Order: sequence, then structure tokens, then C-alpha cells
Amino acid sequence: AKAQSLDEKKSPLVFDASVFQHEKNIPPQFLWPDNEKPCPYAPELPIPSIDIGGFLSGDSKASKLVGEACENHGFFLVVNHGIDFKLIKDAHVFMDKFFHLPYIEKQKAQRKPGEHCGYASSFTGRFSTKLPWKETLTMRFTPQEQENDNKIVQDYMIRKMGDTFRDFGRVYQDYCDSMNKLSLRIMELLGISLGVGKKHFKEFFQGNDSIMRLNYYPICQKPELTLGTGPHCDPTSLTILHQDDVGGLQVFVDNQWRSITPNTQAFVVSIGDTFMALSNGKYKSCLHRAVVNSATPRKSLAFFLCPDKQKLVVPPKQLINKERPRMYPDFTWEQFLEFTQKHYRSDENTLDAFT
Ligand code: SIN
Ligand code: FE2
Repeated sequence: AKAQSLDEKKSPLVFDASVFQHEKNIPPQFLWPDNEKPCPYAPELPIPSIDIGGFLSGDSKASKLVGEACENHGFFLVVNHGIDFKLIKDAHVFMDKFFHLPYIEKQKAQRKPGEHCGYASSFTGRFSTKLPWKETLTMRFTPQEQENDNKIVQDYMIRKMGDTFRDFGRVYQDYCDSMNKLSLRIMELLGISLGVGKKHFKEFFQGNDSIMRLNYYPICQKPELTLGTGPHCDPTSLTILHQDDVGGLQVFVDNQWRSITPNTQAFVVSIGDTFMALSNGKYKSCLHRAVVNSATPRKSLAFFLCPDKQKLVVPPKQLINKERPRMYPDFTWEQFLEFTQKHYRSDENTLDAFT
């Protein structure tokens, strides 16, 4: 009855997480328009599986496969990544612990309007006018200069949630440190595949101001009416996603929604708008979304590599020529981020609208 009484005009855009427990009555804010409702069947999108360990010991086939995938849709898998599977498992276990807390506890880390970090049960993201069927916890990450530097992720969690979150914070601190290293290795691979050498992008992102997001998608009794994450392109540079074995990630390729089959041994890597600009438009940032289901909650962990806020996003000169003149003007990540918060529409290319 509570859900039915929710009036789209009067009710706030923030819901108590109990909204996800309503059996049949999905509040109108979560009902997506017909043209955005998930299709019953999304055929698998085959994406290359890159042996990143093998690549380091001289596997040049990898850069060719990556190049093809990035020119087509910007999605590929990395395997043999060397990230401790115990750490990945812990990152999933601690996610369950956090999202299963009573709402009032999670609210200690509540993300406020205009803030980038914190817990959100539901909000109209910049991705759409409709609400996503999910809860998120977002943390900021910057690499430590030295071993004994402040642990930004851990400190944030302790500040928000109290000292009992020390272990929780440490897990995501370690996870982000690993993602940072992995992202720089992937930057070497992208540099080679774009023909600008392995150091170029790695050095660009050596310092970075990145984002870690935990996505928790509760069970939904009417999954065909809503979306976990609406269609969007990541405005960030590179996304490294670990999804559990439930499935739900879809990519829009050749006018069709295609699903990425879960593989817990692998990370799904994708190109974001900012890297599309860095590659002078050669590598694509592709529209994607996440669907929910009525059987199992789903979890995914997304590490978004982003440049330092003030750094100018300029492609290397090797990628600019007569056939391919500069596609986007100079901008900083800070400027672009601010723009995406205010103006995003899922039916247009953010980067084109911005530049
Ligand atoms: C996202 O793209 O923001 C979420 C993707 C996922 O949960 O698989
Ligand atoms: Fe995304």
C-alpha cells in the first residue's frame, strides 16, 4: 500500500531501501518507458579475452585483438590478471555485509546531492529520468605516493561508518590499489595497440583521481519493467568491472542490446568517453546498461580510472593527421565531469554534446 501511495510529483527522488522489498508494486519512478524497457532476449556479445600476463611477456596478438574490440565497441575481457582471487572474493563478501545492513546504518554514508561519493539507495542518476533498481556505494581513489601514505578509501569508510569499518575499508583500499596497477598495465596495452608506445597513456594516468563503485541490484519481481542501470556511456577513461555470476550487463552494438556473459575469473574492461577523446575518437565508448532479475540479487564492482582533475585531455600527436583531424577540443576531466552531472541525456553522445 505504501508503494501505491507514492506520488511521482510529491515523493522525493530518494527512497528508503525498503522500496526494493515491495513484492508486486513497483513505484512509478522505477517504471521505465517502453522504448527503454529491457528486451526479453539479448544475444551474447563475443568479446576477446586478453591474457594480460602473457601480454607482458611479449604477446603481441593481444594488442591487435584489443585494437579491433576498441574500434568496434570498446569492450574486452582481461584474464591472467594476477589479482588475488581471495581479495576479489572478500570484496564481494564485504559488499553483501554492507548492503544487508539496516537502511539507517547505510545512511551514515549517504551520498548528498552534488556529491560524488557515498551510499545511494535510489536517485535519478545523470543516466536517465527514471530510477535505477539498485543501491550503490561510491568511493574516491587516488594512488598513494608512498607505502605509508594515507589510505584514502579506508579513511573515508572509517570516517563515515566508524572504526568497525577498518577491515571493510582495507579490503577496498587493497582492491583499488590492485585496480590502479592493472589499469596502468592496460594503458600500456592500449598505447601499443594505438601505436603510440607503451609509456604514453601509462604516464598520463600515473597520477589519477579515480572512482570505485559497488553496485548492488536487489531482486525485482517485475524485472521486465525496470532497469538496474539505465543506458549510458561511461564519462570516465577506463572501466574495470568485476561482475558476479548472475549476469545482467548489456552493450548496445549494431542497433541491438547484447549481453556480456559473466566470468568471475575475468574483468570486463571498457573504454570511457575521456579515453575516446584521448584516442582522438579512434576507440569507442559504447552505450551499455544493466538489467535485473527476479531470482537472485546481483553484484558488480566498477573501478573507473579518471585523469587528475586539472589535466588537459589531449590526444598524442601520432593520432592526429589529415585523415583524422582533432575531433574534440582540449578539456579537463573536471570540466567534463561537471558537464555530465548537469546535462546528461541518454539519447545523445555526451562527449559530442559537451564539445
Ligand atoms: C554500470 O555500467 O554502471 C554498471 C554495469 C554493471 O553493473 O554491470
Ligand atoms: Fe557504466
